[in-house]
Amino acid sequence: MGLSVVILAAGKGTRMRSQTPKVLHEIAGKPMLQHVISTALQLQPDRLLTVIGHQAEQITTALNGAESQWVMQQEQRGTGHALMQAMPQIHKQDQILVLSGDVPGLSAETLKRFLSDTPKSALGIITSYVQNPLGLGRIIRDADGEMLAIREEKDATADEKKIKEINAGIMLMPAKLADQLLPKLQTNNAQGEYYLTDLAALAAAEHISLSTTSADEFEVSGVNTRLQLHLLERHFQYQQACKLMERGATLRDATRVDIRGTVAVEPDVVIDVNCVFEGQVVIGSGTYIEPNCVLRNVVLGENVHVKANSVIEDAKIENHCEIGPFARLRPGTELKDGVKIGNFVETKKARIGEGSKVSHLSYIGDTYIGRHVNVGAGTITCNYDGVNKHQTIIEDDVFIGSDTQLIAPIQVGAGATIGAGTTLTKDAPAGALTLSRAKQVSVDGWKRPVKKDGE
Ligand code: UD1
Ligand code: CA
Repeated sequence: MGLSVVILAAGKGTRMRSQTPKVLHEIAGKPMLQHVISTALQLQPDRLLTVIGHQAEQITTALNGAESQWVMQQEQRGTGHALMQAMPQIHKQDQILVLSGDVPGLSAETLKRFLSDTPKSALGIITSYVQNPLGLGRIIRDADGEMLAIREEKDATADEKKIKEINAGIMLMPAKLADQLLPKLQTNNAQGEYYLTDLAALAAAEHISLSTTSADEFEVSGVNTRLQLHLLERHFQYQQACKLMERGATLRDATRVDIRGTVAVEPDVVIDVNCVFEGQVVIGSGTYIEPNCVLRNVVLGENVHVKANSVIEDAKIENHCEIGPFARLRPGTELKDGVKIGNFVETKKARIGEGSKVSHLSYIGDTYIGRHVNVGAGTITCNYDGVNKHQTIIEDDVFIGSDTQLIAPIQVGAGATIGAGTTLTKDAPAGALTLSRAKQVSVDGWKRPVKKDGE
């Protein structure tokens, strides 16, 4: 028996009140539909089909390259109708797992449990007990607890609305059963739609067994509104924060850290409030990150100190470095052990050797700096001539005085000293003092201009 996964994502998402299709709204920086596709792929299905319709082009563009086949549902006539559109692509011997593009928190573990719990000939349904079932389909059971039907909120009686066991919108069935029951769906309901959920009552009527698997409320929570999106995002972030703490990180406030990707931490990492991590971030033990930092695809070594308001992207930072406050480390920055980058310093494609310091107000781009170099305040590598980028090389033990401009391509030899205020246009030899300075003059008898009366 093969496995076909069908993700329903064609609906309008009216309740989001958005120009963006609902399933492209993001959880942890990734479209909800992308989460669902990634989870589905972990099941190694034989076929993965995503039903799209409303704003289909925006979805296929945004998820270009996703490992899913797209199935069009031209008119959105309900979740049952959506599944009908996918049936021609599904093999007769398959099991069909129906997922919803707006339920992004469901884990592969829960789905695997669902697949193994559900007898092969049964109609499987994931349910959950929730505090507030408003808007969700309710699970109707008989006195013996046998499931009879799913009732949509809009079609439910006052008594049925009190039921707190809800339909998560996830179903499993043999393709043959879908072929048998889907044609029997009708639209005589409050929304005039073909409800996928009506398969439950149809199956019960034909004595086909219904099998329910219960799951965690948050895992199955669907997103129909911005508030639900927010609540799910916060829950997801809090869970990730808990994982960091389990691995030995201290979070000054576990509700004020956002991970949009993955963060690997070693013990005794400390993360202060309002830090955002994107892509893949690795943080070595004893490293301390002060408030309001953004780290995107960064590897930090041990005992690094990132001070407040620093932004670091595509960079590799070795042990004992100090960065910030207010530093901006752009892609291609590599700092060896013990480098110090101070406030208002920007680096890009900069490799900086052991123990070197760029402490204040500098731009270091397309640059190699050796060991134990001191770069003074206000130093600028002039790497761009308007067309091409050029390299600056600063060898070991160089001292660069404040307010120096290095006009690349240029090289400063080991042990050289560059006088403050120099505009370096030619290579500076090793060991020597090099400086360029306009002669200082004082003008005798000069008076400041004064305002005339009445002006
Ligand atoms: C659905 C279930 C409800 C369940 C809830 C769980 C039905 C009728 N109701 O309600 O029992 O408690 O999910 O979250 O199934 N879609 C299509 N084509 C359509 C209509 C919808 O592809 O014609 C897609 C939507 O894009 C969405 C998913 O199906 O991803 C669910 O549709 P939605 O309108 O959100 O259903 P709910 O009202 O949440
Ligand atoms: Ca929904």
